[in-house]
Amino acid sequence: MLLPNGKKIRIEGAQVYLQSLGDENATADYVRWLSDPQVNKYLDTVKTTIPELKNFIRGKNASADCLFLGIFTTEGNRHIGNIKLEPKPYDIGHRRAAIGVIIGETSYWGKGIATEAIKLIVDYGFANMPLDEIYAGFIAGHESSKRAFEKVGFARRTIEERSGNPFGLVRKEERIRVYKKEWQGK
Ligand SMILES: CC(C)(COP(=O)(O)OP(=O)(O)OC[C@H]1O[C@@H](n2cnc3c(N)ncnc32)[C@H](O)[C@@H]1OP(=O)(O)O)[C@@H](O)C(=O)NCCC(=O)NCCS
Repeated sequence: MLLPNGKKIRIEGAQVYLQSLGDENATADYVRWLSDPQVNKYLDTVKTTIPELKNFIRGKNASADCLFLGIFTTEGNRHIGNIKLEPKPYDIGHRRAAIGVIIGETSYWGKGIATEAIKLIVDYGFANMPLDEIYAGFIAGHESSKRAFEKVGFARRTIEERSGNPFGLVRKEERIRVYKKEWQGK
């Protein structure tokens, strides 16, 4: 999703800002993140290429429902990760979307960056998109991911079994969520 005039979206934060991606962001570093076992341990993507990433970015930008943004450091403008709000097919028409975040540069872990990026995109999503609920799904036991979402106010955990992943495995997925009503009340 870009702005209606095709302009990039940019959301300012303290440590980081979020900005729409283009072909120029499909870099060898981004390929490296997704093949790093520390990073992809709880993800469904395990290997990719620069052309695949370009297609992926173009596809997300072309979708009117998906907000897919890079996470860039305020100091140095380094692209260190991505974040997105995207409804799953069964969410369409229900005013809800899933949130996903990845900090690919592991030297930036543990500094509150995911927490800040989540807060920025949820603020933007509730103010500018037709959403009443945003939920985060992650593989059970992924404590740092859960903690980052809980810190900004996601709650009400449910657990589901999920087999739709490239490993063909049934995995336990936890979900936590936040509603627009509560978010505005914060
Ligand atoms: C999960 C991830 C996004 C967290 O990013 P981050 O910028 O390091 O997160 P934050 O610094 O905002 O930390 C969030 C909280 O998790 C805590 N945390 C970090 N590692 C932890 C661990 N192993 N166990 C428990 N808590 C942990 C942090 O201490 C912090 O809580 P605190 O402020 O109360 O101390 C990052 O590790 C990542 O990109 N992982 C790979 C991709 C991925 O799995 N994404 C999520 C898919 S749902």
